[in-house]
Amino acid sequence: MSHGFDTRAIHVGQEPEPTTGAVVVPIYQTSTFAQPAVGEHLGYEYARTGNPTRTALQECLASLEGTEQAVCFASGLAAEDAIFRTLSPGDHVVMADDVYGGTWRQIAQVHTRWGIEVTAVDLADLDAVRAAMGPRTKLLWAETPSNPLLKVLDLAALAGIAHEHGARLVADNTFATPYLQQPTALGADLVVHSTTKYLGGHSDVVGGAVCTDARTAEDLAFLQNAVGAVPGPFDAWLTLRGVKTLGVRMDRHCDNAARIARWLSDHPRVTAVQYPGLPDHPGHTLAATQMRAFGGMVSFQVDGGVTAAKQVAEGTELFFLAESLGGVESLIEHPGIMTHASVAGTALEVPDDLLRLSVGIEAVDDLIGDLDAALAATA
Ligand SMILES: Cc1ncc(COP(=O)(O)O)c(C=O)c1O
Repeated sequence: MSHGFDTRAIHVGQEPEPTTGAVVVPIYQTSTFAQPAVGEHLGYEYARTGNPTRTALQECLASLEGTEQAVCFASGLAAEDAIFRTLSPGDHVVMADDVYGGTWRQIAQVHTRWGIEVTAVDLADLDAVRAAMGPRTKLLWAETPSNPLLKVLDLAALAGIAHEHGARLVADNTFATPYLQQPTALGADLVVHSTTKYLGGHSDVVGGAVCTDARTAEDLAFLQNAVGAVPGPFDAWLTLRGVKTLGVRMDRHCDNAARIARWLSDHPRVTAVQYPGLPDHPGHTLAATQMRAFGGMVSFQVDGGVTAAKQVAEGTELFFLAESLGGVESLIEHPGIMTHASVAGTALEVPDDLLRLSVGIEAVDDLIGDLDAALAATA
């Protein structure tokens, strides 16, 4: 019987521990596993290769994304690195032009040194995507909603283009989470996550995952074992604990973000709001078809340029000024100077009056009051 999302988040990979009945998957804090005989083992040999706490998380994430398997990594960027390492010199990647800055930095400054080629394209422009695809294109890399401009991409159309060209679609599902959007149901071949964000959900652990078919997962697990970017058992356990409440947290994140986006849209000091839930957002209709709700991230631009933007970012009290996103607590940041500094001076540069909110699950009226006070100070 196939259970609902919230049931799977709490149960898949998480049977009671057989020797004691512990209902929570233990933190298997061990680097090695005793073997009953030479050449025989009980499923685990050495904790770089595998650890039962990590296995539980992987089984749960695969179930939530609807993929055959998942492979968990020490960070989101380690997960992405493993995907790029499946390529060979001369292979080409077409990537969204507003991809997470760290993803761009990794491919442009690390993998291109080993012969991988990359083209950044506006993936909302499907003709431009087709034009960028070539005979050596192996991956089409999408992130939707995107970071920090919250552009919405048509995953089914992108999967179609990738497959026509013999390439595979990678979807970074960090912002949406499997609760709001399941890219493989729309044709994506690999789903990558920074589990640091909503999946962990409490800003207390860094991690990453790739959810995909069994064959690709085997290649990634080989690379992970060969290269070594594994999550520790406590990190896997914290992430799994976060995942149990993903659905209820996302409902509140989405409700709070929608309220705040509407409120910001009417604010005299705000010149633009990017939130896919707003009816005038260019990706609204598409988001309504491929997502359950519109997410917890809101970006907006303030009157008064970079000076006013910095003032607001430094002026909130409940919204902590910090990088990252997806935790229960609200965060505010200036992408141009903080998370996206590595794309300054490139085509990926973001406006300097832009602020990004990771809307937490606090009482929404308190969050609005906090933003109101910080915006008023810029007048
Ligand atoms: C959309 C997205 N993908 C990937 C990453 C990288 O993940 P990590 O920081 O866990 O390495 C981030 C981090 O901010 C992100 O926002």
